[in-house]
Amino acid sequence: MILLGPPGAGKGTQASRIAESLSVPKVASGDLFRDQQARDTKLGRLARSYMETGGLVPDDVTIRIVMEWIKAHEGEGGFLLDGFPRTRVQAEALDREIVESGGIDRALYVNVSTKELVRRLAGRIICRSCQTPYHEYSSPPIMVGKCDRCGGDLYQRDDDKAEAVQKRLEVYFKETDPLVQFYREAGILREIDGEGTVEDVGTALLEAIER
Ligand code: AP5
Repeated sequence: MILLGPPGAGKGTQASRIAESLSVPKVASGDLFRDQQARDTKLGRLARSYMETGGLVPDDVTIRIVMEWIKAHEGEGGFLLDGFPRTRVQAEALDREIVESGGIDRALYVNVSTKELVRRLAGRIICRSCQTPYHEYSSPPIMVGKCDRCGGDLYQRDDDKAEAVQKRLEVYFKETDPLVQFYREAGILREIDGEGTVEDVGTALLEAIER
């Protein structure tokens, strides 16, 4: 399955819940890049140069790192991808790579208005260790600055600053939004209203998976 939606739609928040509920592994392509950055690898430095301004990391690099993750999790009863694919080239590469194991079953599209996306991203803080997202006002951690799950330090992502958010939204509507139609035509798209509470959106996603 894949989770599609604009920056701040709640993909990361819901990916953890779905993966736990269905007992399948999940990965966010953004987390793979942030992990490389934390380890200061060549790939991490390359990714940073695109991410900090809100652009997309080039397709060849992105496809390679996600395919490596998929190969490492083959045979685990399926998987959930958050934030991949984001371009037509990535979608076609994914289809080719997993055609023998039956392809993508569901593309879950979380739809949220731009006004709400900007509000969510401006107040988001995430865990440096496990990447769990929080929101300053709507879902604060129990202890200020500390992750409820693992006790890691919370911080604001560089690309959540206003200028980068604007660019990420522009890039999303140009490059990624057309994939909604791509998966609709393939008959596997399920669209979910992402503006309810975290619990309501989670329930709607699980229902959409079973439908
Ligand atoms: P990535 O890390 O994937 O970021 P994104 O897609 O922009 O998505 P976000 O993580 O910003 O948002 P989300 O939908 O996960 O929302 P969240 O759950 O955190 O990518 C970052 C960068 O990496 C890209 O810009 C690009 O450079 C690069 N990259 C990644 N993948 C790539 C690819 N495939 N190709 C090329 N480049 C790639 O929630 C947001 C906030 O809202 C949180 O504060 C949360 O607490 C709150 N919230 C969540 N749900 C609700 C709700 N229902 N009600 C109220 N608040 C809520």
